[in-house]
Amino acid sequence: MSGIFYGIGVGPGDPELLTMKAIHAIEKVDVLIAPKTEKKDGSVALTIAKPYLKPDVEIVYQVFPMVKDFADSTEAWEANKAEILGLLRSGKNVAFLTLGDPMFYSTYIYVYRLLEHEDVTIETIPGIPAFAAIGSKLGYPIVEGNDILSIIPATADLERIRKAVEISDNVVLMKVYKNFPEIADLLEENDMARQAVMVSRCGLPDEHRIDDIGQHKNEPVNYLSTILTRKTV
Ligand SMILES: C[S@@+](CC[C@H](N)C(=O)[O-])C[C@H]1O[C@@H](n2cnc3c(N)ncnc32)[C@H](O)[C@@H]1O
Repeated sequence: MSGIFYGIGVGPGDPELLTMKAIHAIEKVDVLIAPKTEKKDGSVALTIAKPYLKPDVEIVYQVFPMVKDFADSTEAWEANKAEILGLLRSGKNVAFLTLGDPMFYSTYIYVYRLLEHEDVTIETIPGIPAFAAIGSKLGYPIVEGNDILSIIPATADLERIRKAVEISDNVVLMKVYKNFPEIADLLEENDMARQAVMVSRCGLPDEHRIDDIGQHKNEPVNYLSTILTRKTV
């Protein structure tokens, strides 16, 4: 009998923010697929899941080349797919762990697309996304009433980010590590700097928070950093 392929969201960092469903799935996993060229979020996800993993769990590292158009499926992607299918057909339960939620800016989405039309059982288990954990932790409402929220990857084109910021009441900015000074200036121009809070490594032992982002805009930013902000009320 074939194994099950699990995409498991482990939440942003706090090991108590895994769902029971995630824990039950992690306990069944024989093989973990881990991205080889990762930005450390994969290894953070592994650390969060570790207490629940079988001691002899096998870790298979795969390279996931980022393709703009997934239709340009490369040989590496096909090789990954064949390897995963082989493991599943040998009866092993295989999982891909993601920080936060698996369907939210995650490499898991590409893996899911590789397998979704194959004759395999896939179970995707949602996780608490970083921005939701940050809102609760800080007592910072993410949206209320008729607020319009934009969730923006700061790696997107700056002009598109500017437009989204202009039309939104509230904004969540993710992946802010690359162009933090430009993002800080943009928030300043749109009267969103004063209300901004940036949390790095939420739920992890070295979590930290910055309130006055303008003062810190020339400092390096950790990859796991998210900004919540809103137009000044
Ligand atoms: C590739 S995306 C993954 C998002 C993830 N799937 C989620 O649901 O939150 C990586 C971005 O998520 C955010 N992030 C993930 N974990 C975080 C954490 N513990 N603290 C702050 N931000 C985090 C950061 O903005 C980071 O650049």
